[in-house]
Amino acid sequence: MADATRDQVLEALARVTDPASGKSVTAAGMIQGLVIKGGNIGFSIEVAPERGPQSEPLRKACEAAVAALPGVLSVTAVLTAHREAPAPQAHGHGHGHGQGPQGQRGAPPKQGIAGVAAIIAVASGKGGVGKSTVAANLALALSRLGLKTGLMDADIYGPSVPRLFGITEKPATERNKLLPIEKFGIKTMSIGFLIEEDSPVIWRGPMVQSALMQLMNDVNWAPLDVLVVDMPPGTGDAQLAMAQQVPLKGAVIVSTPQDIALIDARKGIGMFEKTQVPVLGIVENMSVFVCPNCGHETHIFGQGGARAVAERQGIAFLGEIPLVPLIRETSDAGTPVVALDPEGREAQAFLQVAEKVAEKIAGPTRSAPRIVME
Ligand SMILES: Nc1ncnc2c1ncn2[C@@H]1O[C@H](COP(=O)(O)OP(=O)(O)OP(=O)(O)O)[C@@H](O)[C@H]1O
Ligand SMILES: [Mg+2]
Repeated sequence: MADATRDQVLEALARVTDPASGKSVTAAGMIQGLVIKGGNIGFSIEVAPERGPQSEPLRKACEAAVAALPGVLSVTAVLTAHREAPAPQAHGHGHGHGQGPQGQRGAPPKQGIAGVAAIIAVASGKGGVGKSTVAANLALALSRLGLKTGLMDADIYGPSVPRLFGITEKPATERNKLLPIEKFGIKTMSIGFLIEEDSPVIWRGPMVQSALMQLMNDVNWAPLDVLVVDMPPGTGDAQLAMAQQVPLKGAVIVSTPQDIALIDARKGIGMFEKTQVPVLGIVENMSVFVCPNCGHETHIFGQGGARAVAERQGIAFLGEIPLVPLIRETSDAGTPVVALDPEGREAQAFLQVAEKVAEKIAGPTRSAPRIVME
């Protein structure tokens, strides 16, 4: 029988819930140092030091979940004490973080942005599900909750922020740094501010990475409580660069309710889990169609799909955004709905998501996660 693959093991572990966080052990970023040798599988489970003794049932549950996979001969899971540490200082010092030697190899150190407390990515497996719409309105909603907020457009192939915010001016520079453009109370930066619209740019892998790092590091973002990053579609170079090189506080996954989109959402979630970036939760966009004439609600793509996927994977469900012409019209007109009508029903849906996100990022910063390479 074929050996279990890394994906199968992580999938099995994604079904084990950590009682402390209520998330799956993979979503909570607790699985470290996964080693697969033939049918013999080993990994460590990071828990807070004080939880060590109570975590034996969790350890057993993880072992049992993996042992049930076809082709598995033995499973060894060990509990390791995990210490919270601020992200930028955490790299380079493996001791005390409960990581095996495998956890130290391969990954470049992650650099945070000085003065930016939390960076979160808004992502999805496929395009056109409303990442940019959600990222923009989420950033505006976080700002309305009182957080100093920035919005970085990481979609260097098809930037959206200039159109969404109606920004046509070029950013100024100050001492070799670009100044973000402030609009509706938040700081924004996009490659679209720098290059002409419709000018084709061909990005090769390393350029993608360095363009993104510049948008992070060569922009005067600070001080910010939260920087929301609008990710490009898919799971390519840009996603990997972000997940591997930026100490993301977490990822917000956007999905539409169609099954096919949900399969893609799972892909998006899997990628962040593999790179040990916590998934903060899933937002169901275009969830219900509200007729602009009569207010009648129609679930065009079915109801509850994203919530069901979230629950199955032990991932938080952050809320539903209705499919309404007003959301598209306001975006196209350069004033997202949360800025235009913050009291309206659509804005309230984004504010509810923002409240959940704000709650999740309020906790201490995780130690800089590492990619495990075998
Ligand atoms: N809830 C919604 N109601 C109505 N229209 C929406 C909603 N969400 C997004 N749209 C519209 O759907 C289109 C795609 O949205 P958006 O650009 O945000 O998706 P995306 O996932 O960022 O796409 P890409 O993958 O190309 O970056 C846009 O025209 C947007 O205005
Ligand atoms: Mg987009």
